[in-house]
Amino acid sequence: MDKLLLIDDEVDMHYSFRRLFAANEIEVSTASSAEEGLRLIPKLKPDLVVMDIRMGGMSGLEGLRRIRVMDARLPVIMMTAYGTTQVAIEAMKLGAYDYVLKPFDVPRLKQVVLAALKAARDMRRVVAFEPLLDQQDYEQGIIGRSEPMQAVFKTIGQLADSDATVLITGESGTGKELVAHAIYQHGRRSQMNFLAVNCAAIPENLLESELFGHEKGAFTGATAQRIGRFEQCNGGTIFLDEIGDMSLPTQTKILRVLQSGTFERVGGNETIRVNVRVIAATNQPLERAVAERRFREDLFYRLNVVRVHLPPLRERAGDIPLLVNYFLQKLAKPQRQPPKSLSPDALAALEAYSWPGNVRELENAIQRAVVMAKGNVVLRENLPPAIATATSVPPAPPAAPPTPTAAAVSEPPPHQAPAGRPQAAPAEVAALVDQLFAWARRDPKNRILPTVERELVVRALRETKGNQLQAAKLLGMTRATLRKRLERFDIKAQIQVG
Ligand SMILES: Nc1ncnc2c1ncn2[C@@H]1O[C@H](COP(=O)(O)OP(=O)(O)OP(=O)(O)O)[C@@H](O)[C@H]1O
Ligand SMILES: [Mg+2]
Repeated sequence: MDKLLLIDDEVDMHYSFRRLFAANEIEVSTASSAEEGLRLIPKLKPDLVVMDIRMGGMSGLEGLRRIRVMDARLPVIMMTAYGTTQVAIEAMKLGAYDYVLKPFDVPRLKQVVLAALKAARDMRRVVAFEPLLDQQDYEQGIIGRSEPMQAVFKTIGQLADSDATVLITGESGTGKELVAHAIYQHGRRSQMNFLAVNCAAIPENLLESELFGHEKGAFTGATAQRIGRFEQCNGGTIFLDEIGDMSLPTQTKILRVLQSGTFERVGGNETIRVNVRVIAATNQPLERAVAERRFREDLFYRLNVVRVHLPPLRERAGDIPLLVNYFLQKLAKPQRQPPKSLSPDALAALEAYSWPGNVRELENAIQRAVVMAKGNVVLRENLPPAIATATSVPPAPPAAPPTPTAAAVSEPPPHQAPAGRPQAAPAEVAALVDQLFAWARRDPKNRILPTVERELVVRALRETKGNQLQAAKLLGMTRATLRKRLERFDIKAQIQVG
């Protein structure tokens, strides 16, 4: 049974709460002042505190501040008859779970209380991460124990003492810039300059002058001589980011620098010689750019001498717990606070999501979740909606419940719904259902089930290129049922198979 402690100096309120929550199997205890409430908490160990803000003696806000010190995880709902934004903001800043206005709307109060109790239950179970990182990993900031990342680390090590040109490939947000830095830092040139040039961010007509400099009067606006990046960085390392976006004439100049270490400034005759190590990166497949004649083949081969490929995060999902732990620590550091914990449920969502924006997206998601978390545990509901609703494709029964990789759960996983019985719809689906009902209400001719069923069957067959067995599996029905639907809706003829 959940325990709720009400702290309010109005005795009427004590009575209403007892009556209100009796049916919800919530044991209500009461205190008439913040002082009394603070004394009761260690004895009662409530799951939730509901506290008035205006009370004789210690104020509710001060009470909240002290509760936070005693127990960072105990959710506290504040009540006030004076609904000023100021107080609301103050209460949330102090770590209140929520606040409600008096006189309260009973269904809304119940909803908030039940949600807070659920959050309290979730907060009791947190992921026990593997002890992270040795200090070195931390400083380097490239986290990963998965095989592909281990391979990346090895390559970085092998490259350290060479001047070989390196091409780093991988989707956006996979850590290409981080790796370029690591190669530089471990290399012989680590005491020399490192300059990064984002070829996609600089207008095409300016990129050449940015890289190689120009002479005074080389073009309109060239009012003075300019020393380019290659010269500035002589002896050091240049990082050419998004090299796939470079124009063909600039590519020609780059190829020459790579082959002979020479170039001329824009508008200049003097041949300049430099010794620069080039690290390039791109998130587009250069092979295709070569095939489409947007990228010089000879430059491609010259760059491709050593290639470091960073796989998308979804192909190294085993690293997710590690990365999450790292980001939680990293975010806590400047605050000088212990890092927040994570509920197993939240980790499951993070592991199920496909991460189109890769590690960058993960870092942003954790950052947001830490801000949204009310207390020191990050819950699933604190994650951005698209991630919070991610679920892994359920394995065909009978299957073992999914276990988080590289992290253990400190208590046994919650009861799993028996295979075959659908669980409550995730938020994404619930939202679709709302839309469907809105659509049905608009016109009495609109009938939800046959319309949706037909649409789903057609779509599943299209997705599976007409494979009925796979389509049935996707829809969660037997092949026989699928056949009946095909007959009923007479759709066989319309599906393009293959
Ligand atoms: N393995 C990792 N460990 C820790 N942090 C990482 C890792 N990979 C990427 N990051 C972080 O993710 C963010 C994106 O990384 P980075 O800028 O290196 O990606 P990128 O591949 O260059 O992306 P883009 O193609 O969009 O430029 C950075 O904040 C980086 O610190
Ligand atoms: Mg980058």
